[in-house]
Amino acid sequence: MKNNKNDKYSPASNSKSNYNPNLNSNSNSNSNSTPKSISTSNSTSWESVEKWYRGSVGSEGHYYHQNIVIPGVLRLLSSSKNSLPPALLDLACGPGVLARHIPINIDYVGVDISPSLIKSAKAEDKNLKHQYVVADATKAIPVTKRDFSHAAIILAIQNMENPKEALVNAAKHMSIGGHLVIVMNHPCFRIPRQSSWKNDEEQKVQFRRIDCYSSMLHIPIQAHPSKGEQSATTWSFHHPLASYSQWLFDAGFAIEIIEEWHSDKVSTGRAAKMENKARNEFPLFMAIRAIKIS
Ligand SMILES: C[S@@+](CC[C@H](N)C(=O)[O-])C[C@H]1O[C@@H](n2cnc3c(N)ncnc32)[C@H](O)[C@@H]1O
Repeated sequence: MKNNKNDKYSPASNSKSNYNPNLNSNSNSNSNSTPKSISTSNSTSWESVEKWYRGSVGSEGHYYHQNIVIPGVLRLLSSSKNSLPPALLDLACGPGVLARHIPINIDYVGVDISPSLIKSAKAEDKNLKHQYVVADATKAIPVTKRDFSHAAIILAIQNMENPKEALVNAAKHMSIGGHLVIVMNHPCFRIPRQSSWKNDEEQKVQFRRIDCYSSMLHIPIQAHPSKGEQSATTWSFHHPLASYSQWLFDAGFAIEIIEEWHSDKVSTGRAAKMENKARNEFPLFMAIRAIKIS
């Protein structure tokens, strides 16, 4: 497959990032850090970009959903053997991509803060075992079930201002022994505005430049950078890996496994060799499976 120019993580792209953030917080992060409130919006909802997001994921998910993320999530969920009746809580479910890929006999509840994304998830889902709720996953959610065998937060924990609260909430609605799967953009290598591909022409090596890692960042992402200030904006929140580990521990989870997933795209052309090597060195996504232990 040829390199996709629109791939925001394409090693072919030597630009700093397609993201266009213009704000960050330089506060030092530690495991107990709580982000300060975002300044320009009181919500991290993707309501303002729902049409664009639905268009880019379609019914089955975008390229990485289909080829990397959903297969990996299904594998991590199905290999997490527990004897609990199967039921999945999907926090920040967006338009319901995961729901459309799980076995049809599983009870499923999808939660998202965006009413329009929940509306479209419902419209596409005829499974009577599936329910959808509009709610902030970082506050008490209107879901009475407290014994989910599984929970998932897919490509969304970095879009929440208080990720620890989402983990606490997941735990609150799960049985002891239940499994939580989280997939996120790799927090060590994919930090909007702070990470980029660079070429060392002499050594014929493409490498990843990381400008900042330990600081907590609030990064506005323009959905349509060409529209500048007029563009709808979403938020990305960067935290170092240790913060996620601490928050999981505090919420009553033990990490069972961490996986790192690479892009399966392949470059062609003059720089293909170094691009393909770089792509196989630096993972796109990090997946965590944790078990609720207390
Ligand atoms: C990148 S989308 C991912 C959606 C879905 N998991 C997927 O893989 O398509 C991020 C989602 O997080 C949701 N979100 C952001 N903050 C939230 C919060 N505090 N509570 C619930 N959902 C939230 C957004 O509305 C959006 O649907």
